[in-house]
Amino acid sequence: MHSARAARLRTTAALIPVVAIVAGATACGGSGSGSSGPATVGIAMPTKVSQRWIADGNSLVKQFQAKGYKTDLKYADNSADTQADQIRTMINNGDKLLIIASIDGSGLGDVLVNARQKGIKVISYDRLLLASNDVDYYATFDNFKVGELQADAIVQKLGLKDGSTTGPYTIELFAGSPDDNNTQYFFNGAMKVLQPYIDKKQLVIGSGQKRITQVATLRWDVTYAAQRLALILKENYANQHLDAVLAPYDGISRSLIQTLKNDGYGTAAKPLPVVTGQDAEVDSVKSIIKGEQTETVYKDTRKLAKVTFEMGNALLSGKKPPVNDTKTYDNGNKIVPAYLLQPVSVEKSNYKKELIDSGYIKASDLK
Ligand code: GAL
Repeated sequence: MHSARAARLRTTAALIPVVAIVAGATACGGSGSGSSGPATVGIAMPTKVSQRWIADGNSLVKQFQAKGYKTDLKYADNSADTQADQIRTMINNGDKLLIIASIDGSGLGDVLVNARQKGIKVISYDRLLLASNDVDYYATFDNFKVGELQADAIVQKLGLKDGSTTGPYTIELFAGSPDDNNTQYFFNGAMKVLQPYIDKKQLVIGSGQKRITQVATLRWDVTYAAQRLALILKENYANQHLDAVLAPYDGISRSLIQTLKNDGYGTAAKPLPVVTGQDAEVDSVKSIIKGEQTETVYKDTRKLAKVTFEMGNALLSGKKPPVNDTKTYDNGNKIVPAYLLQPVSVEKSNYKKELIDSGYIKASDLK
């Protein structure tokens, strides 16, 4: 063999194991893992009450484990203190990356300072971590758009959007938890669509409760929302029909529908109002099929987990994470670079295409 070619072959052969080791290291969570094995990713989710967070947690674990990372998934039962403790433990255990869907967005400042001091990267998941410099990236959906889609479903269904009717119709507003940064985005997005109709008196808020402080639902508590509606119905709807309810997420939507049924709604003489939702939970999709809940906003948590994995993997490998928004999400201390995914409004007419064909929900789960 020609000696130069032989030398080239020797060099190539000698390179192969090195390349294989490097590729193997990236593929098995070795980057950022130091000498003690694969890096652990701490995943802090708020609650198991809402189905979506279970799906989020499972998808994240699947994504990271497939690439060889270890994961530590914790749910905090909607207690901000429990969540702070869980994250402290993750930090003390030497986790290299934290993925946090917070309960109280501005209540984790000290914990995050501690993470930063230890060189741990932090990704805000779905809900923005507020009042902290120690948040690296944010993965979420276009939250303003979520509200716009919900409100759009209301004005379309009532026939106000295409002008086929002019009303007036009655409406009641419900918003999410005041300590969840998403809440104001959902609500402001919805009000952008509803306000012109309210101004023209085509939509009338029977209770008069329209400020976010009046309509918010601490910790997204479905029971509180139901009690609030029961009181509103008693005080304002004894002699008029409620035509629409802006409900911020599926758990609350179903609870409000139950309250309405208890009040006699759901018959031909007293039909249920238009009721919005969010998350495409199985029980709400069933309700949509039955003709009770009107719509939900589908946010594919598999896609959110994938983007978050790509961000986290890049951070742990010293690479630049993917972002598509560097302006919107100011957390009070800094603008957090974000990746926003697109939400989709789902009703009876398109649930099959959006949810079943995409594999998000199994047709058999809707039986
Ligand atoms: C929000 C989230 C929604 C919904 C809600 C209640 O932060 O973006 O999708 O799940 O919490 O859990």
